[in-house]
Order: sequence, then C-alpha cells, then structure tokens
Amino acid sequence: MSPETAATAAYIVAALLTVMSLAGLSKHETARNGVVYGIAGMTVALVATVVLAANSLEAGAVALMIAGFVIGGGVGLWRARVVEMTGMPELIALLHSFVGLAAVLVGWNGYLEVEAVGAAQTTVPPELLGIHSVEVGVGVFIGAVTFTGSIVAFGKLSGRMKSRPLALPGKNALNLGALVAFAALTVAFVLAPSLGVMIAITAVALGLGWHLVASIGGGDMPVVVSMLNSYSGWAAAASGFLLNNTLLIVTGALVGSSGAYLSYVMCQAMNRSFLSVIAGGFGVESGTAAADVEGEHREVQADEVAEMLREAASVVITPGYGMAVAQAQYPVADLTRKLRDKGVEVRFGIHPVAGRLPGHMNVLLAEAKVPYDIVLEMDEINDDLASTSVVLVIGANDTVNPAAMDDPGSPIAGMPVLRVWEAKNVVVFKRSMAVGYAGVQNPLFFRENTSMIFGDAKKRVEDILAAL
Ligand code: TAP
Repeated sequence: MSPETAATAAYIVAALLTVMSLAGLSKHETARNGVVYGIAGMTVALVATVVLAANSLEAGAVALMIAGFVIGGGVGLWRARVVEMTGMPELIALLHSFVGLAAVLVGWNGYLEVEAVGAAQTTVPPELLGIHSVEVGVGVFIGAVTFTGSIVAFGKLSGRMKSRPLALPGKNALNLGALVAFAALTVAFVLAPSLGVMIAITAVALGLGWHLVASIGGGDMPVVVSMLNSYSGWAAAASGFLLNNTLLIVTGALVGSSGAYLSYVMCQAMNRSFLSVIAGGFGVESGTAAADVEGEHREVQADEVAEMLREAASVVITPGYGMAVAQAQYPVADLTRKLRDKGVEVRFGIHPVAGRLPGHMNVLLAEAKVPYDIVLEMDEINDDLASTSVVLVIGANDTVNPAAMDDPGSPIAGMPVLRVWEAKNVVVFKRSMAVGYAGVQNPLFFRENTSMIFGDAKKRVEDILAAL
C-alpha cells in the first residue's frame, strides 16, 4: 500500500472518530467518551500526516513539522491544565483565532505557490487555475474574518474590551459593503491575480471580522462564540480544498455545520434573530439607550436570610456567573441538603445562558452532587416562581433582569429571563451594585421584595449555613 493510500485510510478513520466524538458530546452521559474519540481522531490524523510527510518531504521540513507539533501541543496542554472553568469561553475564542490565522496563511501559501509564480511554473492545470484562485480568495476571507472576530470575542469575554456593542453610523451598510467588496475583489483576483488584490481581500476581511463582533452586545456573545466556532470549521474546510486534504474538508464541514446549528438553537432560546446576530447585530438600532435605573436597595445580613429560609415553604435558587467565580456550588449544595432535610422544597432554575458557556451551571451543580431532578430549565420553573417563598439569586444578574421584558430600549430587550421578582421574597448575592455581563443596570435590585446580600457568594452562603 502506498503511503498516500494509507494516509487516506487513516483520514477516513479520523473523520469517523470526529463524527463519533460530536455524537458523544451531545449528551451528558456520553460526553466523556466523546472527548476520548476526539483525542483518538486527532492523534490518528497527526500521525498519518507526519508519516506521509516523512515519505515526501526533506528531513529538515519534517523536523520543523514535528517541532511545531511539540511546541503547539505543549502550549495547548499547559493552557488547558491551568485554565479556570470561568476562563474556558475566552480560551475557546482564542483557539478559534488560530484556526482563522492558519486558514489565512494556507491561503497566502496557495497564492505564493501558484498565482504568484505564474501558470507555467505550477502543477495546477491551466483549466483549474480559476478555481484555485477562488479557493484562495474564499479561504483567506473566511480565515481573516474568523481571526479578527475571535480576537475581539476573546477581548470582550476576558474583560479586556468593553462588552457594549460598537455602534458605528451605518454599520449595516459597512458590513454589506465589505461583502460586496470581497465579491468584486475575488472576481478581479480570478481574472488577474495580483499581490495588491490579495492584500485588499485580506484587509477587507480582517476589518469585517473585527467590526462584526465589535457590533454585537454582551448578551449575544454566547451565540457569537458558537458562530465563530462554525466559521473556524468553514475556514478549515476552505484550507482543505487548497491543500487537497479530504480530512480537513470533512471535519471542517462537520464543525462548521454543528456550530451553525448550535448558534441557531441558542438564538431560539434567547429569542434572538439568528440572521441579526450573525450579521453583527443587524437590525438593532444604534443609539437606543436603556432607561436609567435609580432607586434605593435594601441590604440584609446572613442571619436575616437564614431566618427567611427557615420560614420558607419553597425555595428556588437561580445561579449565575458569580457562583462560578466564587466556586459557591459546594456550600450551595450543602444549603440545599440542609433545607430539604428540614422539609423545604428546594429547586434550581437554570437560564440557558447563565454563566459563560452552555451548560456552565449544570456542570458546577453536578460537580457538587446536586440531584439532577431538582435542577430545572428556565421554562420549566418560570411559572412556579410566583408561588415561591424565597428565590436566592446567586451571582446572577442579566439572566434575572426584568428590563429584558419591560424596557424595549434595553440592550437585552426580548431575551427571556427568569421572572424571579414574582416570588414573595428575592435575595440577591453579589459583591457590589455593579452591572452584569451585558453592562446594564438591573431594576430587580430596587424592587420592594428584593434584598441584597453583599460579599463573595461562597462566603455568604457559608455564613447562612452557619446561622441555620
Ligand atoms: P452576569 O450577568 O454576568 O452577572 C454575574 C454577577 O455575578 C455580576 O453582577 C457580579 O456582581 C456577580 N459576581 C461576580 N463574582 C462574584 C462573587 N465572587 N460572589 C458573588 N457575586 C459575584 O451573570 P448571569 O446572570 O449568569 O448572565 C450571564 C451573562 O453572560 C449573560 O449576559 C449572557 O448572555 C452572557 N454570556 C453567557 C454565555 C453562556 S453560553 N452562558 C457566554 C458568554 C456570555 P458583582 O461584581 O457586584 O459581584
């Protein structure tokens, strides 16, 4: 068997393992297996690539390739080991930017090998040159949009950039203009490939990626991350066409389509228009401002909350990002046990985008051994909140903001929220009166039935446990 045939066979195995990995990851119980299949698929693909290269390239090139694997793999292993659960989305965003950058480099390499040296010097048959040029243009474009878009997403998620949407005048026209310019430049590149046009395509795409994601506000960022995941898949698939690598095409398309589907599902859960989000907040009027929220808030101490809980018949806990930051899930699980032992009905209400990644709260609660059957989705619990004695909002903010329903000018208007304010009493755990991820103030804090308990959520829950 020739090395090429062996590599193709290995690539098919790797592609199948990718499919099995995605299938495994779609369910809680099989997620661990999914990860194992994914690792196995990547390993098969890497080994096949090195073996194939060893047969066709010079020793120096192969050594460079192996050095790249070792350095890249080492950095990846190190980062993955040290990353906090709360830092996961930004790490993912950063990794997407690498895929984008790789696609840009592959595209440029294609140009330098073929178009730049002229038809006579390349192995590409003349009748396929046009197709090659389209592949270069599209690959560079998708890669560059993914690259800068992911960097902006990384900046916003890690707090290095403001999460507020950038609202340039005529932003929709800018996005549309960039797309038209790309189409025109690609036609020009196919007709007469030149370095200038290559630079122009790259620059337009880098700018578009930056602007698309910068225009999207905090509340929609989860969808953006999964959209960028999808773009990175398409970027890899585009590279696959250029490199004539079936594995990249297959896995890229799988990642591209599953990322797009995840984004669609998330948009539905958040009552957002899919097209509007992927088009960089298209249709969201620039300049709309949320109504100013002012008022007096009431502060309570741990012993008062303990008293309230002692008298409660039913308690609903709605956790958010702050619970993850404080690592409060363990005392929260203890509190749940204690209250249930006293005969209080305790349930959890999980918003689909609570925290910073899909399923974030479910993972934390499972880690702290909270029984699955009392952890309910937002839609399952919302109608019961009005008959609940006490809601404990633990480090959540945007996901319990009534402005999403009451204030059409709010950046999170229309996003479904947990209607915690309908309960008899609401206790909000946070460290200050600061805003949440979307950067909007929360009128919940000033409602008559709301009390605030300030400080680190873990510490405060422990204080309540002690008082109980
Ligand atoms: P957020 O709106 O982000 O609010 C979290 C709150 O936790 C903050 O107001 C903060 O207030 C508090 N907090 C932080 N550290 C704390 C600590 N140690 N102890 C106590 N409180 C602490 O949270 P959320 O309600 O979960 O909403 C999630 C937001 O993130 C949404 O806007 C969502 O769109 C966005 N987002 C979600 C995802 C996914 S997929 N889940 C991905 C990216 C973005 P203080 O600073 O005053 O303490």
